[in-house]
Amino acid sequence: MGMDYSAIKDWILREDSFDPEKLGKCEAVMSLGNGYLGLRSAAEERYLNETRGLFVAGTFNKFDENEVTELPNAADMTAIKLSVNGEIFSLTEGAMEDYARELNIRTGELKRSVIWTSPKGTKIKAVFYRIVSLKRLHVIAQRVELTPLDADVKIEIKSGINGKMTNTGSQHFSDGDKRFYDKRVIQFVQTTGQSKIDFVDTTVHKLALDGEVLPMEAEVYIERREIFAGYNVEVKAGQTLSIEKYSTVYTTRDLDAEGKTAADLQKLALETARELEALGYQALLEESARQWEEEVWNLAPIEIEGCEMDEFAVHFAQYHLRLMVPAHDARMNIGAKGLSGEGYRGHTFWDTEIFLLPYYIFTDPKTARKLEEYRYLSLPGAHAKAAHNHYKGAMFPWESAWLDDGEVTPEYMDVDILTGKPNKVWSGFIEQHITSDVAFGVWQYSVITGDEDYMEKYGYELIMDTAIFWASRLEKGTSDDNKYHINDVVGPDEYREHVNDNAFTNYMAHWNMQKAMEYYHLLKKEKPEIFARLNEKLNLEEAYPQWENGCANLYLPVPTKENILPQDDRYLSCRDIDLGKYKAQEHVGGITRDYNLEQINQIQVSKQADVLVLFFLLEDIFPQEVKKASWEYYEKRTLHDSSLSLSTHSVLACDMGEMEMAYDLFRKAAAIDLGPFMGSSNAGIHAASFGGVWECVVYGFGGVRMLGGRLRINPSLPEKWTKLSYTIIWKGQKLAVEVTKDEVHVTNLTGTKKVEIEVNGEARIL
Ligand code: BGC
Repeated sequence: MGMDYSAIKDWILREDSFDPEKLGKCEAVMSLGNGYLGLRSAAEERYLNETRGLFVAGTFNKFDENEVTELPNAADMTAIKLSVNGEIFSLTEGAMEDYARELNIRTGELKRSVIWTSPKGTKIKAVFYRIVSLKRLHVIAQRVELTPLDADVKIEIKSGINGKMTNTGSQHFSDGDKRFYDKRVIQFVQTTGQSKIDFVDTTVHKLALDGEVLPMEAEVYIERREIFAGYNVEVKAGQTLSIEKYSTVYTTRDLDAEGKTAADLQKLALETARELEALGYQALLEESARQWEEEVWNLAPIEIEGCEMDEFAVHFAQYHLRLMVPAHDARMNIGAKGLSGEGYRGHTFWDTEIFLLPYYIFTDPKTARKLEEYRYLSLPGAHAKAAHNHYKGAMFPWESAWLDDGEVTPEYMDVDILTGKPNKVWSGFIEQHITSDVAFGVWQYSVITGDEDYMEKYGYELIMDTAIFWASRLEKGTSDDNKYHINDVVGPDEYREHVNDNAFTNYMAHWNMQKAMEYYHLLKKEKPEIFARLNEKLNLEEAYPQWENGCANLYLPVPTKENILPQDDRYLSCRDIDLGKYKAQEHVGGITRDYNLEQINQIQVSKQADVLVLFFLLEDIFPQEVKKASWEYYEKRTLHDSSLSLSTHSVLACDMGEMEMAYDLFRKAAAIDLGPFMGSSNAGIHAASFGGVWECVVYGFGGVRMLGGRLRINPSLPEKWTKLSYTIIWKGQKLAVEVTKDEVHVTNLTGTKKVEIEVNGEARIL
């Protein structure tokens, strides 16, 4: 009981029972949003173990000097306290029948219904609907229908804005100004403590009895950090009382709020509230659903024949990929939990470039460009980090928040099982591959989209500035091999700290410097004005010999005679233990309950894909036998304790022709948030894993890859699937790909340019 997949063919994910102890999962995986707002799907009535959450992308705040900036949990406007004949409506009291909560991922509507019998025996049918509009970024709309089933009742409603929300105890907002207009519209202005962003929250209710609007004045209440309206309605048996609640959030950080004060936004919000009320819930739902159709389902359709659950899984991924992305504003990026929870504090990681960006590049290049502009706009933080560490160029923060925040990785997290002290998080100091991941994202974006304007304004500079960092980062080794080394890092595999010559880090740094050299020549020859501008800014003439020297002398780990590429300089000589127990674990991170990180460092065990991500990114530089032997070696030793890992292994398994394994790993990746395990997503969905699910389908089984600037499609379907269709956009041309067991059809839907493509090893021109 819990997750119910019986309605997935109608695009509906259902929860079929209510467990007050396990609220987090559905709050997160059924969350609503539009990239500006993210709303956890906590119930209207409140529960002890709930985690309500409303996040506005980019509104970072620092609670105090000892904490890093985080995305604050904004005032709650979805709670509605209901009493029936004086008894509080709550599913932990009395009895319930026919409970269901359903998320329709096609329309973005959440519905919850139940027949509830109060402890004193009053029976009432309650149905709750809500959306976060995809059409109107600031809008949340709710509708509640209450029908007493066998007696007349008095219903009491208390509903408004609750500004007491915190991020696990950290209160980011001032108490603020509260105001009622016409005893109907409620407004609350709160300001974040350090970043001084004003949030203007506004809500208004509309009540109707059997469709007849009730012209009611509210009883008004203003309390500390809270403002709400009260209504009392008598409802006869069989009548339906509907309560519609329209809420908006505007902030002074909004792109179009530039130059506006909170007072301007208050006025705007007031006008909007009246407009929303006039439109009503149904019209708002319909226009938002149309937007979903246009913006997501028609834009990037994917069909899988042969398994409804797999098709739903990829649609579910697309649903969340839209919720999490701030497509409206380049000053912000995607958080590791999207906007669905406090986990990872709303911060952006390498997850964006490596796991998420491919989806947007191939389906929605405009949004992909925004994500890439963000990196350019956050260069000040990257420069500051490099300077702080005595390096040159742009050293990107491992975790990023607001543009000039710089490094925001918290210093301590979790517990060291041996010492009982919090674990130091080394990623913020030494997980440095993020810098070349950013450069790789730029290159990937530019090659697949052909967006030269981006490259000229931002891209060339980013690739060169990051290469300058790498040249300054290289160290002469202690061994006398005369090589440069990159010592004391954390590679992608976070179970290994303070390692030297992590293969991923070194190869990617090499790639980054090499790309910068290539662009140096290209610009000098073909775009001398841009060359001159960048030379003046970055001193390319001085940088070039350093890149050349760096590339020629950087140590690149070599495969063993068994064809295994060493993950770092010690991995292969560490102790092997029986990992069976951890591989079979239900919860991730089991090994950290038996060993502390120092001990794990001495074991041949990986938290997540590391060398294999390298094969995935730089696929054409490693021979197949190295990939195969390494895949087999590391897959056995990888616990997939990070949600980023399974999808990479699945895609690689496809490349190895291990189709059963590939499919098994894909199903596991898809189950991270969608699966039945009710504790897996409490702190928020796993954003990168949704990108990974799309990658499994389109890169893995669909066989798409950009290799050295060329498009390649080598599909191979899992046993169960009879057909896979998807679209991708390659240099502005939208291609529809249809794969069956024996054929591949590619159609150029745009058809304004010739497209060169390699399908199953054969060069084709469309
Ligand atoms: C993973 C990182 C990832 C981060 C955010 C960590 O557990 O090890 O690779 O970037 O989560 O998703």
